[in-house]
Amino acid sequence: PIPVIIDCDTGVDDALALLFAVRHPGIDLRAVTCVAGNTDVDGVVRNTLTVLERAGAPDIPVGRGAARPLIEPARSAQHVHGSDGMGDLGLPVPRRTASELDAMALLRREILASPRPVTLVPTAPLTNIALLLRTHPEVTRNIERIVFMGGAVGSGNATPVAEFNVWHDPEAAAILLTAGVPITMYGLDVFMQVTVDTPDVRRLRASDDPGTRLAGDLLAHRPTAIGEEPEAEEAGGLGDAGAVCAVADPGGLTTRLLPVEVSLAPGPSRGQTIVDRRPRPGESEIHGGGREQALVDVALEVDVQRYVKLYLDTLQSSVS
Ligand code: BDR
Ligand code: CA
Repeated sequence: PIPVIIDCDTGVDDALALLFAVRHPGIDLRAVTCVAGNTDVDGVVRNTLTVLERAGAPDIPVGRGAARPLIEPARSAQHVHGSDGMGDLGLPVPRRTASELDAMALLRREILASPRPVTLVPTAPLTNIALLLRTHPEVTRNIERIVFMGGAVGSGNATPVAEFNVWHDPEAAAILLTAGVPITMYGLDVFMQVTVDTPDVRRLRASDDPGTRLAGDLLAHRPTAIGEEPEAEEAGGLGDAGAVCAVADPGGLTTRLLPVEVSLAPGPSRGQTIVDRRPRPGESEIHGGGREQALVDVALEVDVQRYVKLYLDTLQSSVS
């Protein structure tokens, strides 16, 4: 199996991602680290521990990370994810607490200790990852790839042009993009497309398995509320879980290696991922104004049915 670490802000769809990663036989989930995003970091830790217990994986280490972005104040998304950040499903408090190592120390230990290079999957603002890369740059030698949910080629959600995870901590995202490791951007363009139909959600909710049932309850919460088309009302978005599907089954994603830059300017473009899809250099490059930009594998298309099937099969196959 592929050694994977998820850095998340659980979060309805982060929880869907954790449930999938725990259950997929091709993934070895070695640790989970938490960062402020959808809700405050202590809430994220609590939600993450609860989800891992429900998933039957109470031993995976969980590290508490940054309580706020590098520069901005924290700005939660509780209007999407509920007051507890997890859809207000009344989930129990977890039995254990986080690791005594903080997120950065846990990431460092697990990445360097892994016998095979690790795939990092951030599904949250990139604060922990930026701090890790700046504090312990030696980790890059044992990182296979970073597959992050964030950014957008087209429309944003937090602002007209900025996606929430990048908007929440644009400087951290800029540090990630220039880290010098292979990066896949699973952005809003593909994120929004992967939704599960109501009959499938009902089947998950009717399962005997607590983890499978939780996935159904979370999908019924419809985390795609922001930007959701009225006709999609009956569908539950896999959201962040799609990024983990892309690790388990990269063939379901069409990507292109493209220059990507994060807008750090104050004002309406702040947090935008500017993806250069031009077929040839433009006037700015011709006149010597071109800048060196990070090349990122940007997800342009997703095979929706393939990932929905992968998700449902994985969650349901765990039922004995
Ligand atoms: C991202 O923001 C969060 O609300 C979701 O969990 C996802 O990671 C989408 O913009
Ligand atoms: Ca998230």
